[in-house]
Amino acid sequence: MVELKSVGEIDAMAAAGAVVARALAAVRTAARPGVVLTDLDQVARGVLRDAGASSPFLGYQPSFASTPYPGVVCLSVNDAVLHGIPNGYRLREGDLLSVDCGATLDGWTGDAATSFCVGHTSSADARLLERTEAALAAGIAAAQPAARIGDISAAIGAVARDAGYGLHTDFGGHGVGHTMHESPSVPNDGRPGRGMRLLPGVTIAIEPWFLAGGHDAYRIDDDGWTLRSSDGSRGAHFEHTIAVTADGPRILTA
Ligand code: MF3
Ligand code: CO
Repeated sequence: MVELKSVGEIDAMAAAGAVVARALAAVRTAARPGVVLTDLDQVARGVLRDAGASSPFLGYQPSFASTPYPGVVCLSVNDAVLHGIPNGYRLREGDLLSVDCGATLDGWTGDAATSFCVGHTSSADARLLERTEAALAAGIAAAQPAARIGDISAAIGAVARDAGYGLHTDFGGHGVGHTMHESPSVPNDGRPGRGMRLLPGVTIAIEPWFLAGGHDAYRIDDDGWTLRSSDGSRGAHFEHTIAVTADGPRILTA
């Protein structure tokens, strides 16, 4: 079941989303060469605490995971792209870091992710980052009232295909509301005109993640969470929580 949110409820979700945006910005500012990933998790914890928000990531254990998630952010470096656990790794110049964060405030949740390089950005990384963020923008632009989920999915998939990047539909976007993962699911590829209709009040996270190496497989680390490319190629991940409104898509994690 998809729960449609009122305009007031969407405003409340935007307040949760603003906390997520602040946490991502603080982590980005702190992410310098020499900084340890667990320190970045502490930076995000501080932002959530100061806002009076809780973390929907901390202790989360979906069916695919063998252990509860131990952090408030996912920090995925280089060939890791999703669900990287904040560990003792020390960031180096040129690392590509993907940061995913959620916050729950006054009973409403926001979920967003961004990717960037620490220090120098190679031209290959710049293109991967730019195209993955462009896919998020295309997905959001497709989230118009009366459009369908498949329009979002197709817009994302087209950007990956045009760029020659690897696309996997195993993890993708999802409904967001009182909890982080709700109906509907928002796959990162699909067919236009198919799937659930997007009525005003639908709130979803859209989250393309691309692998630079093409359609090669990925694998999960022994930690049970960290997802990385099999060929060692780098990945990027961008995510916003948005609301479909009568006036078009509204980004709630800006
Ligand atoms: N944006 C990610 C997702 O929707 C966040 C989940 S990370 C977890 O799957 F740690 F909470 F699982
Ligand atoms: Co998400």
